[in-house]
Amino acid sequence: MKEMEIFKGLENVPIKETVLSSIDGEQGKLYYVGYPIEELVEYSSYEEVCFLLLNHRLPKRKELEEYVNRLKAERQLPPEVMEILSELPSKSPFMSVLRLGLDLLNVYDDEAEKNDEESRLRVALRIISRMATLAAVLYRYRNNLEPVGPAFELPHAANFLYMATGRKPSELEGKIMDAAFILHAEHELPASSTASLAVASTLSDLYSAVSAGIGALKGPLHGGANEKALEMLQEIGSVEKVDEYVRKALAEKRRIMGFGHRVYKSFDPRARIFKRYLWELLNIKGDRTLLDIADRLEEAVTRELGSKGIFPNIDLYSGAVFHMLGLKKEFFTPMFAVARSVGWIAHVLEYWRDNRLIRPRAVYVGPPPRRYVPIDER
Ligand code: CMC
Repeated sequence: MKEMEIFKGLENVPIKETVLSSIDGEQGKLYYVGYPIEELVEYSSYEEVCFLLLNHRLPKRKELEEYVNRLKAERQLPPEVMEILSELPSKSPFMSVLRLGLDLLNVYDDEAEKNDEESRLRVALRIISRMATLAAVLYRYRNNLEPVGPAFELPHAANFLYMATGRKPSELEGKIMDAAFILHAEHELPASSTASLAVASTLSDLYSAVSAGIGALKGPLHGGANEKALEMLQEIGSVEKVDEYVRKALAEKRRIMGFGHRVYKSFDPRARIFKRYLWELLNIKGDRTLLDIADRLEEAVTRELGSKGIFPNIDLYSGAVFHMLGLKKEFFTPMFAVARSVGWIAHVLEYWRDNRLIRPRAVYVGPPPRRYVPIDER
């Protein structure tokens, strides 16, 4: 085999064209279909962003109304699925149970195997809508609480928060949840979207592709970092202990959660927005401790590692925001998956328009060809 260069971690290896999102890692900018993330958070809604990512354009008023209603109409889970969910063990990893729940939805979806464009779009919408109910129902069961049915007057993200907590969110909480969903909706090709694409490229189905995304998102180097970042902020406990924490972590060559990114070599723009919302939430509670710790951490880590391009990423602040919304840590990564389902699906639908099997190579470095050795002669 002629010598092949290895692109470890597939760093900077483009595998598809996309109109879905673009990241300017040097300037810390993120756009969905050309629209700056800051403007989408300010003026749009998660539902509109879903339409944008699946149709590559913003909807007209009537189209959006219809789209919102179609998403709402898919919120209920089949009773057979609800019954099985109630039996699942509450101590197993949440992301594994979420994946299992999605597979159950797959089994009870008669359209799951259809591959005409119309059916695929209906399945896409169903997955996006039902993932939210699924995660919320699982959250309640895991906390020994009865599930709360969807509130049809609430938008997608606020309804999700309601189904999880059982309490109608305030206007600010609803707005922040919607912003969190928008900020997690899409991010080009991280490991999870790449996993979804690899599965879809075999012409498998949408559920299987999303399931692969959930599996990849689970890890602490990807979606699992939000939970770990909050744990770290809580473990540090006070501003005075930050410098010592950073010094020790770096001396022990440990990763500091919520910092660093494969593409951003400056401040992740999503982190800036989450930081602002954390500030708003903490101001209401009147206790700024978490923000003060995160602020000092940001200062200390960028002083030490900024020259290597290591700055805060989305997860430094998102976990703290979710915590302030009254949600438990184990729910953070599942919520990320719920919001990102649209990004995974949008990439798959885009890829299928010009599909090619994803099949990279490995460079063989083992022994040369040799004869098999019978077990008694080894
Ligand atoms: N803390 C300390 N050092 C770090 C960190 C960090 N958070 N991130 C990178 N480095 C160092 C790393 O030790 C290495 O140093 P050296 O060159 O001296 O060996 C250098 O920076 C490059 O690291 P890398 O692992 O080759 O970079 P990568 O592009 O493969 O890693 C990353 C990206 C996100 C996995 C990494 O920055 C990391 O582990 N961060 C902490 C986990 C985290 O916050 N993940 C969430 C990512 S954003 C949300 C998402 O996409 O899911």
